[in-house]
Amino acid sequence: MTCSVVILAAGKGTRMKSTLPKVLHPIGGKPMVQHIIDTVKQVGATNINLVYGHGADQLQQALAHNELNWCLQAEQLGTGHAVQQAAPFLSDEEDVLILVGDAPLIKASTLSELFSTKQQADLALLTVHLDDPSGMGRIIRQGDNVSAIVEHKDATPAQRKITEINTGMMIMNGKDLKRWLSQLNNQNAQGEFYLTDVIEMAANEGKIIRASHPTSATEVEGINNRMQLAKIERAFQTEQANDLMSKGVTLLDPQRFDLRGDLVVGQDIVIDVNVVIEGTVSIGSNVKIGPNCLLIDCSIADGCVIEANSIIEQAQVAENCQVGPFARLRPGTEMRENAKVGNFVELKKTVLGVGSKANHFTYLGDTTVGDKVNIGAGTITCNYDGVNKFRTEIGDGAFIGSNSSIVAPISIGKNATVGAGSVITKSVDDAELAIARAKQRNIEGWQRPVKK
Ligand code: UD1
Ligand code: CA
Repeated sequence: MTCSVVILAAGKGTRMKSTLPKVLHPIGGKPMVQHIIDTVKQVGATNINLVYGHGADQLQQALAHNELNWCLQAEQLGTGHAVQQAAPFLSDEEDVLILVGDAPLIKASTLSELFSTKQQADLALLTVHLDDPSGMGRIIRQGDNVSAIVEHKDATPAQRKITEINTGMMIMNGKDLKRWLSQLNNQNAQGEFYLTDVIEMAANEGKIIRASHPTSATEVEGINNRMQLAKIERAFQTEQANDLMSKGVTLLDPQRFDLRGDLVVGQDIVIDVNVVIEGTVSIGSNVKIGPNCLLIDCSIADGCVIEANSIIEQAQVAENCQVGPFARLRPGTEMRENAKVGNFVELKKTVLGVGSKANHFTYLGDTTVGDKVNIGAGTITCNYDGVNKFRTEIGDGAFIGSNSSIVAPISIGKNATVGAGSVITKSVDDAELAIARAKQRNIEGWQRPVKK
């Protein structure tokens, strides 16, 4: 379908008490207005007009990757005035979908239904019944037809009893819209140019005005303060959690799960409480994620176990690996099949080969570890001289004794052994034993000091 969209996002969002423009506050890690942009793209919108005012620089930076037509509303004189700023960019023939920038949960299916409603009418409105409609524009009907929207502040006591409200989302023909916009005035309780006044104009021209409804009121709920932000965040997370569970993921407590990005899943994944997933993450089948893990832009293949309190960022974990508890895989890390990383182990720009293990208290940075290597407890690769970083190579089958320091650049050969407590500064050839520690002296007949 060809249609233009106007998203109203010029308001300041005073009640957020923030230096960030309201529509940039994130829901699920993504600016709320970006949710709306992504949703309208899904329904095939081509020309997206964003009416902006406050926080122009921040908005343009945060939304730079979108193809948007930026419409400046320098002064916020009302929703009708806001749409007027986009009018020059709207063609007569097409339908224009008007949305608000602060109701991020609107679904593509709801918008599609609004389009279908428009096909049977001249104008389609998205309305909803609220238990507490106060503050909202009320829908005035004459039978099936909507005849006007009256803003709360302008409404009579009888009109205020109406529970059907305007969500601010509507669709109409571009030519009609522009004609009605040019007739708006601000003779009302708030001294604003109300977009909602076009409804009465349309009714007076004998137009057919129909309403459709979202699946739930939360879908169209606007965010004006941080309590509402938190409420919508939870609603969004619940939706995502339900989606994952329907795909075969067990969430031990869906209320304590947060996805801020995109997650691709296999089957029979069990995710314990307080797991946070950010960016683009994939998790294979039969994976267990323990409590309090943070996964950012990473992939975890089938059969892995990620134990409690582990952090995995920009890393790839192959099949049947074990990670944690309390492990940290930093950017550029790759664990090959059956590798193991245990508690208080940090890996950065490091490959840990097939079946290799670093089980306790270790730092491996800028290191390539071959297959079936054992990295003893407390091993540290010294990859940084204070100015530059250097690489370490550890060959297949090597054994690094506990509490060793490996000073890079350096290579340890295949099947080589490093004695515990060594400071290794020279490369070790295949199958050699390297020990670099003070020789032990045993003193016979040693007398302990006595108290004076
Ligand atoms: C508006 C509707 C009301 C509806 C409610 C739903 C009007 C006159 N009223 O009321 O019927 O029930 O939304 O939430 O349309 N905006 C601008 N420029 C402006 C004014 C507003 O861009 O000059 C933007 C705001 O940033 C916001 C949206 O328009 O995203 C709605 O504005 P808001 O002030 O919240 O409208 P309400 O008075 O709540
Ligand atoms: Ca509002």
